Amino acid sequence: MQNFFITQWFDWKSSKVSGRIETVNTLLKKLGFWVYLQPPPYSGLMTNVEQRMNLYHLLSQVLFYGVPGEVVELGCNQGQSSALIRRIIDHFDPTREFHVYDSFEGLPGVSSADGATPYSEGQLRTSKDVLAANFERYGLRLPVIHQGWFEDTLPTGLPEQISFAYLDGDLYSSILVSLQHVYPRMSPGAICLIDDYADPEVYPEAWNKLPGVKAACDEYLADKPEKVSFIYSGGMSHGFFRKQR
Ligand SMILES: C[S@@+](CC[C@H](N)C(=O)[O-])C[C@H]1O[C@@H](n2cnc3c(N)ncnc32)[C@H](O)[C@@H]1O
Repeated sequence: MQNFFITQWFDWKSSKVSGRIETVNTLLKKLGFWVYLQPPPYSGLMTNVEQRMNLYHLLSQVLFYGVPGEVVELGCNQGQSSALIRRIIDHFDPTREFHVYDSFEGLPGVSSADGATPYSEGQLRTSKDVLAANFERYGLRLPVIHQGWFEDTLPTGLPEQISFAYLDGDLYSSILVSLQHVYPRMSPGAICLIDDYADPEVYPEAWNKLPGVKAACDEYLADKPEKVSFIYSGGMSHGFFRKQR
């Protein structure tokens, strides 16, 4: 597995410091301030480098240690994270099935449990063809694609046994329904990685624009032995838990 694959598409250019910012930084330095301006890094992807590294390390370990079950991604959009998952599976254990799920119609309705999120219904609309084209571009085998709302596809469309689940449905209702169907199918030792899980108590600087994600996890796991741990992911947010044995 090349590290390059984890970091590729990273748009280094857009995080370049402009001449104006450099002038301000020089001035701040001259005035004796130990601070400087830096434009936010933007990868052009839905995950940043740290999140792709988290994906790599957590998925590769369940495959390497032989945790039984297939790999699933709930909320695949154009397949940017799916492409990385496919590469990791192919490198460590190509016999594992890989299933992805998405409405391809964008997000469902936002509820009060999503707090003051700037996201809204229909956002992130895309198509299966875009995902397929991305996979073709990188010469990757397509995953099994389940098109539709999670409520409809998950009850009968999930594999019996899951070793790794990547939950990226953004909203309270989507994460809750994901957990309701994925958790009972997770093998002992399986890992569930949750995108956008921010815990301001653990890391106040965490990206926290989708508070419904943590609300759904806390609610679903309240009576379970597992709890979500926040995992550092640069300017974004990630949480994960491992199914107990
Ligand atoms: C942030 S995007 C996924 C990004 C992708 N994992 C990546 O990193 O490239 C979230 C996706 O979840 C899908 N989604 C959210 N809630 C859903 C639901 N209840 N049923 C089906 N799809 C849903 C949206 O259509 C959207 O494409």
